[in-house]
Amino acid sequence: MLEVLVTGGAGFIGSNFVHYALATHPDWRVTTLDKLTYAGRLENLQDVLDDPRHSFVRGDIADAAVAGRLVERSDVVVHFAAETHVDRSIQGAADFIQTDVVGTYVLLEAARRAPHLQRFIQISTDEVYGSVLQGSSRETDELKPRNPYAASKAGADRLAYSFWATHGVPVCIARPSNNYGPYQFPEKVIPLFITNALDNLPLPLYGDGLHVRDWLHVLDDCRALDLIIESGVNGEVYNIGGGNEVKNLDLTRRILDLTERPASLIAPVRDRPGHDRRYSLDTTKLRALGWEPQIAFADGLRETVQWYRANEWWWRPIKQSNAEFQSYYTAQYGERLRPS
Ligand code: NAD
Ligand code: TYD
Repeated sequence: MLEVLVTGGAGFIGSNFVHYALATHPDWRVTTLDKLTYAGRLENLQDVLDDPRHSFVRGDIADAAVAGRLVERSDVVVHFAAETHVDRSIQGAADFIQTDVVGTYVLLEAARRAPHLQRFIQISTDEVYGSVLQGSSRETDELKPRNPYAASKAGADRLAYSFWATHGVPVCIARPSNNYGPYQFPEKVIPLFITNALDNLPLPLYGDGLHVRDWLHVLDDCRALDLIIESGVNGEVYNIGGGNEVKNLDLTRRILDLTERPASLIAPVRDRPGHDRRYSLDTTKLRALGWEPQIAFADGLRETVQWYRANEWWWRPIKQSNAEFQSYYTAQYGERLRPS
């Protein structure tokens, strides 16, 4: 059996990866390490909590005792755990530096001592390249992060690289573009806009709405990560991009079409400070390993809308009775959405 440690496995991509891993690899035993922050939800893993090939540990990646115990017995570490929302990093960056940078450092120190570790996958992001006005980012391009989330991730990305270059930790770095799909916390734009539309609430579109993101279905991301575990080269970086560059305004219109709601729900609001205009990834390197995205954006977005329609039990308690979410929503949107 291959011992696989998934950090942040109760979050959006992590929980999709745990499900994918257990279904795809009968010879993997998966341990999820997750602190269960506001974004980590045990219900994301409810159908695998009793699986004999899966165990869940509640803990902080920055706790050296827990991280050490779990990393040292692992063959593979897939490190998703992070603070992940740009708008929250603008409200306050301390948790981002603590988890994304210090937490990653603690895991990497543990990885140095792990006797049979074959792979440490550092989940980075396309945001480390900063705003890309022309062309597409290649793995060798300069990193120019422009918000505290992206800067923390860039720090972790290079720290992981340094532990390969200096200490020989078998690190591969993945830089995925914006993911979408089931179980995404309703602070991110796609689930926020779908659930607001279903409730006939305004969709707060930042600035002129012409910012571009490259959308990647979470299952295509999982398949790419699996391939990097299998065939990546240590010390290398791999971009994972969906090839679906869409302006936010067009994305918003598509969500309104799919939810059968009127354009009058679009609420242009004050822009995010430092809002990156565009992300775009060159994925030649990963494609050479044999990966390409399989889920067309139109299909993936339709199925995602369908998932949120069918799973109100999952998101409605977060949006309607979770005090932490409501206080975040008011801080982020209260003044923006107030009629002038
Ligand atoms: P998420 O916010 O949905 O989940 C993060 C998970 O990490 C949660 O379960 C949370 O409880 C856990 N966590 C946070 N701090 C922790 C700590 N100190 N110790 C242990 N667990 C902790 O995030 P996501 O969208 O699934 O993103 C996963 C990873 O992928 C992150 O590293 C993120 O930077 C990266 N990424 C995300 C996207 C995207 O579009 N969502 C794109 C590129 C890269
Ligand atoms: P988001 O889902 O926060 O991901 P990221 O900032 O990591 O790309 O945002 C995606 C895009 O949608 C980004 O350009 C910001 C924009 N956006 C809005 O216009 N309104 C919103 O309420 C949110 C959350 C995002």
